[in-house]
Amino acid sequence: MRICPSCGEDNPERARFCLNCASPLPAGAAAGRQERKFAAALFADLVGSTSLAEREDPEVVQAVVRRAFDRLSEEVERYGGLLEKFMGDAILAVFGVPTAHEDDPERAVRAAIEMQAVMGELNRGFAAEGRPQLQMRIGVEAGEVLVDLERAGGPRDRMLTGDAVNVAARLQTAAEPWQVVVGPAVYAATKNVIDYRELDPLAVKGKDQPIPAWQALRVKARRRGERPSLGLEARLVGRDEELGLLKQTFHRVEAEGRPALVTVLGAAGVGKSRLAYELLNYLESLSTLAYWRKGRCLAYGNVSYSALADAVKAQCEILEDDAPEVAADKARKAAELLFGDEAIAPQIGALVGAGESATQFSREELFDAWRRFLERMAARLPFVLVLEDLHWADSGLLDFVDHLADWAQGPLLVLTLARPELLELRPGWGGGKRNYSAIYL
Ligand SMILES: Nc1ncnc2c1ncn2[C@@H]1O[C@H](COP(=O)(O)OP(=O)(O)OP(=O)(O)O)[C@@H](O)[C@H]1O
Ligand SMILES: [Mg+2]
Repeated sequence: MRICPSCGEDNPERARFCLNCASPLPAGAAAGRQERKFAAALFADLVGSTSLAEREDPEVVQAVVRRAFDRLSEEVERYGGLLEKFMGDAILAVFGVPTAHEDDPERAVRAAIEMQAVMGELNRGFAAEGRPQLQMRIGVEAGEVLVDLERAGGPRDRMLTGDAVNVAARLQTAAEPWQVVVGPAVYAATKNVIDYRELDPLAVKGKDQPIPAWQALRVKARRRGERPSLGLEARLVGRDEELGLLKQTFHRVEAEGRPALVTVLGAAGVGKSRLAYELLNYLESLSTLAYWRKGRCLAYGNVSYSALADAVKAQCEILEDDAPEVAADKARKAAELLFGDEAIAPQIGALVGAGESATQFSREELFDAWRRFLERMAARLPFVLVLEDLHWADSGLLDFVDHLADWAQGPLLVLTLARPELLELRPGWGGGKRNYSAIYL
């Protein structure tokens, strides 16, 4: 069985091009020194680039695709993946060759999620240059693969075969644009670290059993002390209008690429957190990806900016019990990942309480660096920053939210939840901002 990564056609083993759509097929069992390995295969395909080439200047499309491939290859390599030579518009990468790591499936899924984020960032650049934009589908599955060792050391074309490669190709054809879809082996190996949504199993010609499939949503925020998620709640009653407003605002922010500040106001227990949670549910039901980062202000022992720090820690994957050196290192890596250099790493370190002390910077320097960090995230994917219980915020955080709403660029929705006491603390909250709205519950 050799499944075509473009159209899903089931081709005979010896086929090198698809019998249905003539796309080149992944490698066959070539001669040469081969080795069996447990590895994760990632299959990514650009959607509709052929029809794009019909509408647009083929050279422009070529240039765009080449730039995308270069950036996407960097992501694969950063997570320790090895690229097989490209076939047409597809990328096949393998994690676990030549050296296996115990977390190869996790690396593959993280790389896939990051590749979609990078694609979003690239598209913003293409749009600004008036160039066509691209969409990508990704499938990931793990299992035994056959590696042609000679080819792996050389030009790396047609070096990989195995059921995992076929299944990854099939999962990819079933994915919607922007989705990352994984198979059962990857799901089992990563369900503790990645949040998934279960999909309908996929029928495959030539196989008796359909393949179970899951959509990867995000890397789990691994923090202790978070209030239990509102998972097992009674059905939402009412709130259509308020939820509608939030959805609309999100889509406006996304379409216009400009920030908005929304404050949900209401007494304790009236349903503010629930409303935010329903927005998250809605975003997860969309096929597009978005960043969702959340932090809470505490009733007592609230450290300055701690809600913002929570959200940024989640982005840096800093855990609550990470030692300061570890946290500082993660903050530096995350800053470097977003910026390509470490210029603002000290200010980010200061925010998350790692390394630098905040007192060595002026407030302007801190706000500027923090805002730029959030803007870089929004440049990748539309970004919802949720700050809960803002009535307990320190005045520094309130000033920063103000600063963000006034100065940030890009698709950033700052969603703040507060009891009405906030308005006693800041009577003019949100006043005079064109991009501000309040929702009273
Ligand atoms: N519209 C609704 N339909 C069904 N259940 C709801 C609704 N709104 C809120 N609830 C439930 O009521 C409880 C309290 O809501 P929630 O935690 O959202 O309140 P809150 O406004 O965030 O309160 P606090 O100010 O204490 O943070 C939760 O269990 C929530 O699921
Ligand atoms: Mg709440």
